[in-house]
Amino acid sequence: MTGTTYKIAVLPGDGTGPEVVAEGIKVLQAAGRAENVSLDFQHYDLGGERYLRTGEILPDSVLEELKGFDAIYLGAIGHPEVKPGILEKQLLLRLRFELDQYINLRPVKLYPGVETPIKDKGPQEIDYVVVRENSGGIYTGIGGITQKDTPHEVAVQSMVYNRHQVERCLRFAFEYTKKRAKKMTLGLVGKTNVLTYVYDLWERAFQEIGERDYPEIKRDYYHVDAACMWMIKSPEWFDVLVTGNMFGDIITDIGAITQGGLGIAAGGNINPEGVSMFEPIGGSAPKYTGKNLINPLAAISAAQMMMETLEATRVAARIERGVRRVLENDIRSLASGQMGLTTSEVGDKAAAYAAA
Ligand code: IPM
Ligand code: MN
Repeated sequence: MTGTTYKIAVLPGDGTGPEVVAEGIKVLQAAGRAENVSLDFQHYDLGGERYLRTGEILPDSVLEELKGFDAIYLGAIGHPEVKPGILEKQLLLRLRFELDQYINLRPVKLYPGVETPIKDKGPQEIDYVVVRENSGGIYTGIGGITQKDTPHEVAVQSMVYNRHQVERCLRFAFEYTKKRAKKMTLGLVGKTNVLTYVYDLWERAFQEIGERDYPEIKRDYYHVDAACMWMIKSPEWFDVLVTGNMFGDIITDIGAITQGGLGIAAGGNINPEGVSMFEPIGGSAPKYTGKNLINPLAAISAAQMMMETLEATRVAARIERGVRRVLENDIRSLASGQMGLTTSEVGDKAAAYAAA
């Protein structure tokens, strides 16, 4: 059998990013070896350190190079000495936009052995996926500020969507629901009672596409504020949720905490026709940097999503097994510093389970 080789660009980034990414690579290599899949990693030092040293954030030449990989594996962006907004916009959001990663896929899955803050809910009840639109909405930064620093200053930041962006996101969500083949239910999260232009467009497109092309998929609709309540009260209703960029950002933090928090939550920035990028949802956690105490499971789960998206399903299944077994057998708490294991020990164990 001849093996497949995947070329992966690694962006460890800032803070604890490099530590968690190293464990992810360890598990990827162990799982890949067992399936005769080889992985070729190339590291890029993008992030706060390089910016402070050289003033560069994302050189155009690097962006071009990144387009030649099968996928991108990202650690964390955010540096305590860099003003908020700079690295987020010029690195993370620029990558998402320029690579047209128009989907942000965020599974909300509670694994056995993990504590959720929701009383009386377990892995049976908390298992759904949020499809967040990732290329438009308020995040495009259309707007401006006038008469700054005067009592009359005006600030505008517009929620902008075109039909094309909405439709491609909805189609991805319908397809994903079909492929997932669980409850065969797609819920649109919007705000049609107030955002009567933008979410009216979303809702009409949702109903049209669903009725015409996906009659087998049940369609639900939730206002975003109500969705926040139901994600706590009745998460078992959900199968796949789809929403715009800003709402998706907000509700996926709620989802993350219900699945055990940022130590476990992973996401994929997906361009179904291009280069996708996978990341743990948590930030750079500066206070844990270099201490070998940060929880790497979210980064390991992001690696699993990367393999799934590249259709290396057996490698992905091994990585998931690694995560599950560590949760069942080894780790005391998901909270960094309270795991009862170091960062690298979690990676070692997950790698051993993935290889077995
Ligand atoms: C996320 C983050 C980013 C976002 C920030 C860091 C720009 O919160 O990935 O959810 O808002 O999308
Ligand atoms: Mn966020």
